[in-house]
Amino acid sequence: MSRPKISVIGAGNVGASAALKLAELELGDVVLVDIVEGMPQGKALDLMQMCPVSGRDVNIIGTNGYDETEGSDIVIVTSGIPRKPGMSRDDLLSTNTKIVKQVTAEVAKRSPNSILILVTNPLDAMVYVAYKVSEFPKQRIMGMAGVLDSARFRTFIAMELGVSVENIHAFVLGGHGDDMVPLARCTTVAGVPITELMSKDRVDALIQRTRDGGAEIVKLLKTGSAFYAPAASTVEMVEGILKDKKKILPCCVLAEGEYGINDTFVGLPVKLGRSGIEEILEIKLTPEEREALHLSASHVRELCNRVYELGEL
Ligand code: NAI
Ligand code: 2OP
Repeated sequence: MSRPKISVIGAGNVGASAALKLAELELGDVVLVDIVEGMPQGKALDLMQMCPVSGRDVNIIGTNGYDETEGSDIVIVTSGIPRKPGMSRDDLLSTNTKIVKQVTAEVAKRSPNSILILVTNPLDAMVYVAYKVSEFPKQRIMGMAGVLDSARFRTFIAMELGVSVENIHAFVLGGHGDDMVPLARCTTVAGVPITELMSKDRVDALIQRTRDGGAEIVKLLKTGSAFYAPAASTVEMVEGILKDKKKILPCCVLAEGEYGINDTFVGLPVKLGRSGIEEILEIKLTPEEREALHLSASHVRELCNRVYELGEL
């Protein structure tokens, strides 16, 4: 039986870190693609030489073209520019729309049955661009953001309470922007809602830190944005799919009536399995939560309208 094939487009910080984690988990063979000559080839060779040390049998190749990606089971798109201090994710729209459009056309042609996972920012709008260009069914196109945003919320709660991160389950829904929607009510420590374990002020402070989580790291790094947690979050989605785990994770997906949201890519809880998005779970939201989710979705729609204004679709 051949191993699954996972292509990672963009061999920069997120792409290379994702390739490393994919290899460490032995999830499949990896093709790393980038426009910079020699760089994906060099990183792939380095990763191959890591495998004997880790005891992992996978092939990793680097390339500046797309032929090697043919027949991929999963394609992860990380190509694009990251933000600099002071920039919002939305400031990347024009440049990254062009890149995602070109890359999606290349991969969709060679891997028409693959599952696409977008990472490039502004995330929700980039998933929309890839959906339009690939014309893939909505079950096979998704974006990574909610797993990362929830991981940040979980980290801050674990730090605050001095408990294991494993005890914390959190849900952050909505778009991957400043108006993302961390659901405190559904966030638990060993099954106990955090609203019973912390004051409202502390919960609010951790929600705000989660919303600012990406910017906090951009400010510290000064050049580039977060990549270890984003890569690990993407690989959690890949693992859920390839192992048909039926794992419930917040992912950016096309809402067609769910939560009263129409024709918009936005972060919602989904069940991931071998065929991609197998179900969008509709949890009961309070009126305030629903309003916040709708506000976030309306922001995504504005961004998608700006994509149209660019004349790229
Ligand atoms: P990076 O700059 O380290 O890597 C991006 C790579 O894309 C570079 O190596 C570049 O050469 C390559 N690239 C550019 N145009 C290309 C093209 N046409 N074809 C193939 N490769 C191309 O950036 P990093 O940190 O890896 O971030 C990548 C993207 O992911 C950014 O847009 C960033 O904002 C986004 N991001 C999204 C997250 C999320 O939660 N959705 C989390 C972290 C990053
Ligand atoms: C983050 O949240 C850059 O979107 C990325 O770190």
